[in-house]
Formats: sequence, C-alpha cells, structure tokens
Amino acid sequence: MLIARTITECVSFRKKLNNNVGLVPTMGSLHEGHIALIKSSLKICDITIVSIFLNPKQFSANEDLDSYPTDDSRDLKILKKLNIDCIFMPKQSEIYLEDHSIDVVENKLSKLLEGNSRPHFFRGVLTVVSKLFNICNPTDVFFGKKDAQQLIIIKKLIKDLNYNIKCHEIPIVRSEKGLALSSRNEYLNESQKEIASNIYKSLYLVKTHIDNGQDDVGALKKIFFTSIQSVPELKIDYFSIADIRTLEEVVDTISSTVLISTAIFLDGVRLIDNIEYII
Ligand code: PAJ
Repeated sequence: MLIARTITECVSFRKKLNNNVGLVPTMGSLHEGHIALIKSSLKICDITIVSIFLNPKQFSANEDLDSYPTDDSRDLKILKKLNIDCIFMPKQSEIYLEDHSIDVVENKLSKLLEGNSRPHFFRGVLTVVSKLFNICNPTDVFFGKKDAQQLIIIKKLIKDLNYNIKCHEIPIVRSEKGLALSSRNEYLNESQKEIASNIYKSLYLVKTHIDNGQDDVGALKKIFFTSIQSVPELKIDYFSIADIRTLEEVVDTISSTVLISTAIFLDGVRLIDNIEYII
C-alpha cells in the first residue's frame, strides 16, 4: 500500500496503471460508512485509491474545522487491513498553493438546502473534488447517499465538466438505532447518540405516513416538526421535502420522487440525514 503524501507521488502511481482505478474521497476519521464505499471500490475496480484530506475550503470561519475529528494512525490501520492500493493524504499547502485563485462553483443546486445554511460549502467541496479527480484520474468514484445533495451536485460536476468518470452511489450506513454514521458522531457520547437517533425515527415516521397515503407536504412537515420538538435537545436547522432532480421544495402534494432531508443541531453538533422516497 502506497502512502502518497504529495501530488507528484500520486500522479506517478496513477500514470503506471491502465486498469480501472476507483477513488474514494474522504476527510478521514473513517467509519463503517466510509468502509462501505471503499469495499464497493475494491469489488468493482482493479485499483483503489482512498484520499484523506480535511478540506479547509468547505468550512466557514465559525464552523468546526479546528475540532473536526482526525486520527491518521487509526485510519491507516483500517486502510492497510482493507488492502487498498494507495492512500493519498496531502498537506493543505500541497492542495492549496498560496496563490490559489480558481474555484469550481455550481450556480443552482448548491444554493438550496445545505447550500442555504452553508453558502461556502459546495464551492469548497467542488473545488477539492475537481482537484482530486485531476490528480488521481480515476475511472470510477464512490460517494455516499448520506450527503445526498453533495452526491447529486458531484454527478452534475462530472456531467457539466465532461469528466470521463463513473459515479457510484452508496446507501447510507446506519447504527443499530438508525443514526446515520458520520465522523461528527464522535462529538457525541452514548446518551447523545441515543437522542440523535430520533432524527432518523422522525424521517422514518414521515415515510410511514406517505406509505399510508398522506401526500400533503404541510401535514408531513407538521408530523416531522412535532416528532423532533418532542425531544428538547434537538433544534431544527431545516427540514425539506424536495424534488430529487431539481432540489426545489415541493409545495402542495408529493407526486414524484422526493428527497426528504434535514439538518439538526444537538448540543451544537450539526447532524444531517435524509430519506429518498421513490414514486
Ligand atoms: P466525508 O464526510 O469524510 O465523507 C466521505 C464520503 O463518505 C462521502 O461520499 C460521504 O457521503 C460518505 N459517507 C459518510 N458517511 C456515510 C454513511 N453513513 N453512509 C454512507 N456513506 C457515507 O463528504 C466528504 O467527506 C467531503 O465533503 C469530501 C467529498 C471528501 C470532499 O472534501
């Protein structure tokens, strides 16, 4: 397993290969969600590269870049065990030169949902993901549905900028209680994780009501808000029922596939989750 800490090392590793190369971009602090992506790449591709890069550009000044969980030695152990081919773990200064002045910006989908709460976020994600695509030159990439909007926008990036890359979508990996696994769950103790599992329970409650014939968006929003508000520690940032293709809010009734998504604060920790409802 090569540990490439520079762009040059990663590029020269890639140049020698003619076969399918899978890239799994991560910010480290690996958990079973990341591992599901990696295993999928190992299964589909001849070569698997995992990148670990805590991307400062996707955090704003008041967010948790400085406290974001990191554990390189634990991550390396996990990746060695999985038998991946290359870890690309560059320094910040390697990725962003002092005179960096070109970013990748999406102008529509990135303004909604997460982009509304975190206006800088997708500019940071798309810029670093484009750089990783250019450096690693993968044939296949693997992204999780946990970050559903990110996945949708990255598919748009591949299409609009003509990357010759196949994007694989991996289902959300959850704890037994339903909490979507996330590096940010490391901020939570066991009782907070128990409380946080009410996020998925509330999303699932909305799904159950749709299953039972409720298609009125107002009524479904009320069901979600009532469920979350019964847990005093949880504070809603947003709750959305949006058309999966445009990410525009559904106004009256659900008539096509929707992304039901939310961001919730628990004691200052921001957690996101979603369910896709296929119609
Ligand atoms: P990170 O949060 O580390 O996630 C890396 C990848 O793992 C993303 O594609 C994410 O959707 C996926 N993932 C995380 N938790 C998951 C879960 N519980 N189930 C399934 N997949 C899960 O997302 C990022 O990093 C960054 O924005 C990145 C794309 C690396 C750009 O910096």
